[in-house]
Amino acid sequence: MKKEKLIQRYNLPERLNHWIVAFCFVPLALSGLGFVFPSFNGLLNIFGTPQMARILHPFFGVVMFVSFLGMFFRYWKHNLPEKNDLVWAKNIHKVLTNHEVGDTGRYNFGQKCVFWAAISCLMLLMASGVVIWRPWFAGYFPIPLIRLALVMHSVAGVGLILVIIMHAYAATWARGSITAMTEGKVPGSWAKYHHPRWYREVLAKQQKKEEDERKAG
Ligand code: HEM
Repeated sequence: MKKEKLIQRYNLPERLNHWIVAFCFVPLALSGLGFVFPSFNGLLNIFGTPQMARILHPFFGVVMFVSFLGMFFRYWKHNLPEKNDLVWAKNIHKVLTNHEVGDTGRYNFGQKCVFWAAISCLMLLMASGVVIWRPWFAGYFPIPLIRLALVMHSVAGVGLILVIIMHAYAATWARGSITAMTEGKVPGSWAKYHHPRWYREVLAKQQKKEEDERKAG
Protein backbone atom coordinates (compact mmCIF):
# COMPACT_ATOMS: atom_id res chain seq x y z
CA MET A 1 0.00 0.00 0.00
CA LYS A 2 1.25 3.50 -0.89
CA LYS A 3 2.27 5.49 2.20
CA GLU A 4 0.44 8.79 2.66
CA LYS A 5 2.45 12.00 2.23
CA LEU A 6 3.21 13.74 5.53
CA ILE A 7 3.12 17.48 6.12
CA GLN A 8 5.33 19.34 8.59
CA ARG A 9 3.22 21.06 11.27
CA TYR A 10 5.79 21.74 14.03
CA ASN A 11 9.58 21.70 13.74
CA LEU A 12 11.85 20.42 16.53
CA PRO A 13 12.40 23.77 18.33
CA GLU A 14 8.61 24.33 18.30
CA ARG A 15 7.94 20.89 19.75
CA LEU A 16 10.63 21.28 22.42
CA ASN A 17 9.18 24.67 23.32
CA HIS A 18 5.68 23.18 23.70
CA TRP A 19 6.81 20.20 25.80
CA ILE A 20 8.92 22.42 28.11
CA VAL A 21 5.72 24.42 28.77
CA ALA A 22 3.72 21.21 29.33
CA PHE A 23 6.49 19.71 31.53
CA CYS A 24 6.50 22.81 33.77
CA PHE A 25 2.69 22.96 33.84
CA VAL A 26 2.17 19.58 35.54
CA PRO A 27 4.13 20.18 38.79
CA LEU A 28 2.98 23.82 38.83
CA ALA A 29 -0.69 22.83 38.58
CA LEU A 30 -0.37 20.06 41.19
CA SER A 31 1.57 22.15 43.71
CA GLY A 32 -0.74 25.12 43.01
CA LEU A 33 -3.76 22.99 43.93
CA GLY A 34 -1.81 21.87 47.00
CA PHE A 35 -1.34 25.51 48.10
CA VAL A 36 -4.96 26.59 47.48
CA PHE A 37 -7.01 23.62 48.71
CA PRO A 38 -6.17 22.11 52.14
CA SER A 39 -7.48 18.71 51.03
CA PHE A 40 -4.84 18.70 48.25
CA ASN A 41 -1.90 19.60 50.57
CA GLY A 42 -0.35 16.19 49.88
CA LEU A 43 0.29 17.26 46.27
CA LEU A 44 3.00 19.64 47.55
CA ASN A 45 5.25 16.58 47.83
CA ILE A 46 5.54 16.60 44.02
CA PHE A 47 8.64 18.77 44.63
CA GLY A 48 9.95 16.47 47.39
CA THR A 49 8.68 18.41 50.41
CA PRO A 50 6.17 21.27 50.89
CA GLN A 51 9.12 23.57 51.70
CA MET A 52 10.78 22.72 48.36
CA ALA A 53 7.43 23.34 46.64
CA ARG A 54 7.34 26.86 48.15
CA ILE A 55 10.84 27.53 46.82
CA LEU A 56 10.61 25.87 43.39
CA HIS A 57 7.00 26.65 42.33
CA PRO A 58 7.80 30.30 41.40
CA PHE A 59 10.96 29.38 39.46
CA PHE A 60 9.06 26.75 37.44
CA GLY A 61 6.42 29.43 36.89
CA VAL A 62 8.95 31.86 35.40
CA VAL A 63 10.34 29.14 33.09
CA MET A 64 6.81 28.26 31.95
CA PHE A 65 5.88 31.90 31.40
CA VAL A 66 9.03 32.72 29.40
CA SER A 67 8.70 29.50 27.36
CA PHE A 68 5.06 30.24 26.61
CA LEU A 69 6.06 33.70 25.35
CA GLY A 70 8.12 31.83 22.72
CA MET A 71 4.92 30.07 21.61
CA PHE A 72 2.93 33.26 21.85
CA PHE A 73 5.18 35.16 19.44
CA ARG A 74 5.24 32.18 17.03
CA TYR A 75 1.50 31.62 16.87
CA TRP A 76 -0.38 34.82 17.75
CA LYS A 77 -0.97 35.72 14.11
CA HIS A 78 -2.49 32.28 13.37
CA ASN A 79 -4.84 32.72 16.33
CA LEU A 80 -6.34 36.07 15.33
CA PRO A 81 -10.14 35.95 15.02
CA GLU A 82 -11.66 35.83 11.52
CA LYS A 83 -15.08 35.48 9.87
CA ASN A 84 -14.72 31.69 9.54
CA ASP A 85 -14.60 31.31 13.32
CA LEU A 86 -18.28 32.25 13.47
CA VAL A 87 -19.17 29.32 11.20
CA TRP A 88 -17.19 26.98 13.46
CA ALA A 89 -18.75 28.40 16.66
CA LYS A 90 -22.30 28.27 15.27
CA ASN A 91 -21.82 24.66 14.24
CA ILE A 92 -20.07 23.45 17.39
CA HIS A 93 -22.72 20.69 17.76
CA LYS A 94 -21.52 19.23 14.42
CA VAL A 95 -17.85 19.53 15.44
CA LEU A 96 -18.66 17.63 18.65
CA THR A 97 -20.11 14.79 16.60
CA ASN A 98 -16.87 14.68 14.61
CA HIS A 99 -17.93 16.64 11.50
CA GLU A 100 -15.61 19.47 10.58
CA VAL A 101 -17.21 22.74 9.42
CA GLY A 102 -16.00 25.90 7.67
CA ASP A 103 -12.76 26.66 5.88
CA THR A 104 -10.48 26.39 8.92
CA GLY A 105 -6.96 27.76 8.72
CA ARG A 106 -4.00 26.64 10.85
CA TYR A 107 -6.13 26.72 14.04
CA ASN A 108 -9.86 26.38 14.62
CA PHE A 109 -11.93 28.66 16.84
CA GLY A 110 -11.69 26.28 19.81
CA GLN A 111 -7.89 26.25 19.61
CA LYS A 112 -7.87 30.03 19.31
CA CYS A 113 -9.96 30.34 22.48
CA VAL A 114 -7.51 28.08 24.33
CA PHE A 115 -4.59 30.15 23.06
CA TRP A 116 -5.98 33.52 24.23
CA ALA A 117 -7.29 32.08 27.50
CA ALA A 118 -3.84 30.56 28.21
CA ILE A 119 -1.93 33.80 27.57
CA SER A 120 -4.46 35.82 29.63
CA CYS A 121 -4.19 33.43 32.59
CA LEU A 122 -0.40 33.34 32.31
CA MET A 123 -0.12 37.15 32.28
CA LEU A 124 -2.29 37.32 35.41
CA LEU A 125 -0.32 34.50 37.06
CA MET A 126 3.03 36.16 36.32
CA ALA A 127 1.97 39.64 37.45
CA SER A 128 0.30 38.42 40.66
CA GLY A 129 3.08 35.85 41.21
CA VAL A 130 5.71 38.59 41.47
CA VAL A 131 3.63 40.48 44.04
CA ILE A 132 3.26 37.41 46.31
CA TRP A 133 6.81 36.02 45.81
CA ARG A 134 8.47 35.82 49.22
CA PRO A 135 11.16 36.62 50.21
CA TRP A 136 12.19 38.42 47.02
CA PHE A 137 9.46 40.83 45.96
CA ALA A 138 6.46 40.67 48.33
CA GLY A 139 8.18 43.08 50.76
CA TYR A 140 7.88 45.88 48.20
CA PHE A 141 4.07 45.73 48.08
CA PRO A 142 1.35 46.74 50.61
CA ILE A 143 -0.52 43.92 52.39
CA PRO A 144 -3.95 44.65 50.74
CA LEU A 145 -2.32 44.38 47.30
CA ILE A 146 -0.67 41.07 48.29
CA ARG A 147 -4.08 39.74 49.41
CA LEU A 148 -5.65 40.78 46.10
CA ALA A 149 -2.76 39.22 44.18
CA LEU A 150 -3.20 35.94 46.12
CA VAL A 151 -6.85 35.75 45.07
CA MET A 152 -5.98 36.66 41.46
CA HIS A 153 -3.20 34.06 41.38
CA SER A 154 -5.49 31.29 42.65
CA VAL A 155 -8.35 32.15 40.27
CA ALA A 156 -6.04 32.45 37.22
CA GLY A 157 -4.28 29.19 38.22
CA VAL A 158 -7.53 27.23 38.48
CA GLY A 159 -8.65 28.87 35.21
CA LEU A 160 -5.48 27.74 33.41
CA ILE A 161 -5.83 24.19 34.78
CA LEU A 162 -9.39 23.98 33.38
CA VAL A 163 -8.24 25.40 30.02
CA ILE A 164 -5.35 22.92 29.74
CA ILE A 165 -7.54 19.94 30.73
CA MET A 166 -9.78 20.93 27.80
CA HIS A 167 -6.76 21.42 25.52
CA ALA A 168 -5.22 18.04 26.34
CA TYR A 169 -8.62 16.34 26.00
CA ALA A 170 -9.23 17.95 22.58
CA ALA A 171 -5.70 16.99 21.48
CA THR A 172 -6.34 13.32 22.22
CA TRP A 173 -9.96 13.44 20.98
CA ALA A 174 -9.10 14.70 17.47
CA ARG A 175 -7.27 11.61 16.25
CA GLY A 176 -3.86 12.32 14.72
CA SER A 177 -3.32 15.62 16.59
CA ILE A 178 -0.87 14.21 19.14
CA THR A 179 1.57 13.10 16.42
CA ALA A 180 1.63 16.74 15.24
CA MET A 181 3.28 17.65 18.54
CA THR A 182 5.33 14.47 19.07
CA GLU A 183 6.67 13.77 15.58
CA GLY A 184 6.00 17.17 14.02
CA LYS A 185 4.25 15.75 10.96
CA VAL A 186 0.62 15.06 10.06
CA PRO A 187 -0.91 13.06 7.20
CA GLY A 188 -2.23 15.17 4.31
CA SER A 189 -5.73 13.71 4.89
CA TRP A 190 -5.68 14.93 8.54
CA ALA A 191 -4.69 18.43 7.45
CA LYS A 192 -7.26 18.50 4.63
CA TYR A 193 -10.05 17.39 6.97
CA HIS A 194 -9.31 19.48 10.08
CA HIS A 195 -7.54 22.52 8.62
CA PRO A 196 -8.44 22.72 4.87
CA ARG A 197 -7.28 26.32 4.28
CA TRP A 198 -3.96 25.67 6.04
CA TYR A 199 -3.57 22.51 3.92
CA ARG A 200 -4.06 24.49 0.69
CA GLU A 201 -1.59 27.14 1.87
CA VAL A 202 1.06 24.51 2.63
CA LEU A 203 0.51 22.81 -0.75
CA ALA A 204 0.72 26.15 -2.60
CA LYS A 205 4.00 26.98 -0.79
CA GLN A 206 5.43 23.55 -1.63
CA GLN A 207 4.45 23.87 -5.29
CA LYS A 208 6.00 27.34 -5.52
CA LYS A 209 9.23 26.05 -3.93
CA GLU A 210 9.39 23.14 -6.39
CA GLU A 211 8.74 25.49 -9.34
CA ASP A 212 11.47 27.91 -8.18
CA GLU A 213 13.91 24.99 -7.81
CA ARG A 214 13.04 23.74 -11.31
CA LYS A 215 13.56 27.21 -12.80
CA ALA A 216 16.87 27.64 -10.94
CA GLY A 217 18.31 24.65 -12.52
C1 HEM B 1 -0.51 18.59 29.23
C2 HEM B 1 -0.55 18.00 28.10
C3 HEM B 1 -0.63 18.67 26.76
C4 HEM B 1 -0.92 17.99 25.60
C5 HEM B 1 -1.25 16.51 25.48
C6 HEM B 1 -0.87 18.95 24.52
C7 HEM B 1 -1.06 18.64 23.18
C8 HEM B 1 -0.96 19.53 22.11
C9 HEM B 1 -1.08 19.18 20.72
C10 HEM B 1 -1.30 17.77 20.19
C11 HEM B 1 -0.96 20.30 19.99
C12 HEM B 1 -1.04 20.41 18.46
C13 HEM B 1 -2.45 20.75 18.02
C14 HEM B 1 -2.51 21.11 16.54
O1 HEM B 1 -1.52 21.50 15.95
O2 HEM B 1 -3.61 21.03 15.95
C15 HEM B 1 -0.77 21.40 20.92
C16 HEM B 1 -0.63 22.72 20.57
C17 HEM B 1 -0.54 23.75 21.47
N1 HEM B 1 -0.46 23.64 22.84
FE1 HEM B 1 -0.51 21.91 23.92
N2 HEM B 1 -0.58 20.18 25.02
C18 HEM B 1 -0.41 20.07 26.39
C19 HEM B 1 -0.08 21.10 27.26
C20 HEM B 1 -0.05 22.44 26.92
C21 HEM B 1 0.14 23.52 27.86
C22 HEM B 1 0.39 23.35 29.35
C23 HEM B 1 0.05 24.68 27.13
C24 HEM B 1 0.16 26.10 27.59
C25 HEM B 1 -0.01 26.55 28.80
C26 HEM B 1 -0.18 24.33 25.75
C27 HEM B 1 -0.32 25.23 24.72
C28 HEM B 1 -0.43 24.90 23.39
C29 HEM B 1 -0.50 25.88 22.30
C30 HEM B 1 -0.49 27.40 22.46
C31 HEM B 1 -0.56 25.15 21.10
C32 HEM B 1 -0.65 25.71 19.68
C33 HEM B 1 -2.12 25.80 19.31
C34 HEM B 1 -2.59 27.21 19.21
O3 HEM B 1 -1.79 28.14 19.11
O4 HEM B 1 -3.83 27.41 19.23
N3 HEM B 1 -0.23 22.96 25.65
N4 HEM B 1 -0.78 20.88 22.21
